[in-house]
Amino acid sequence: MEEQILNPTMMPRIGDDAPDFTAVTTKGQVTFSEFAKDKWVVMFSHPADFTPVCTTEMSGFATRKAEFDELNTELIGLSIDSIHAHLAWVDNVRKNTGVYFDFPIIADLDMKVSKLYGMLQPNESQTAAVRAVFFIDPKKKIRLIMYYPLNVGRNMDEIIRVLKALQTTDKFGVALPLNWTPGEKVIVPPPKTLDEMDARIKDDSLEKVDFYLAKKTL
Ligand code: BEZ
Repeated sequence: MEEQILNPTMMPRIGDDAPDFTAVTTKGQVTFSEFAKDKWVVMFSHPADFTPVCTTEMSGFATRKAEFDELNTELIGLSIDSIHAHLAWVDNVRKNTGVYFDFPIIADLDMKVSKLYGMLQPNESQTAAVRAVFFIDPKKKIRLIMYYPLNVGRNMDEIIRVLKALQTTDKFGVALPLNWTPGEKVIVPPPKTLDEMDARIKDDSLEKVDFYLAKKTL
């Protein structure tokens, strides 16, 4: 059996404040606490520039950037590569495919940011960041985290779906069921008192399985 590398550093968790940092990016120096004021942020890491799966994923973020703009969301990428590698890769993909990575990509050569965000998972790779996605709200709180291994690409539809889901729960104070997509019925929070329960039982405006599982159209 291979020996496990134990990592004593704290991993960021859902509900935590997003750790602040200053980093060199393809759009110049970024200080996270000053980045994307009053906006959502989707921050994602990729293992390495000039690799095939990463090229498809970064192209996915780039080609759907207008949807993130619509959702008041800034994108920021990261890998443990130099700024020179980032610039050469952005230029190469633009020349070969016409797709332009028009968002900052952090050059995290000293691994400062990847360690801060738990993107470096040494039993998967000691030198490359895993495929992480952090969904960070306008108050700079981490709201959802995805981690994928090096050899499996992410799903852009799912990334956009969960971003819309988070924004919907915030706006309407509802919860969302299995496989929810925008436009589908949402879950009304269950009653917390006997009076609320009785009111819910009498409420004929909702689609109910029982008082604790009720749905409505937004
Ligand atoms: C890729 O993006 O293709 C890749 C990167 C690192 C390890 C495996 C695959």
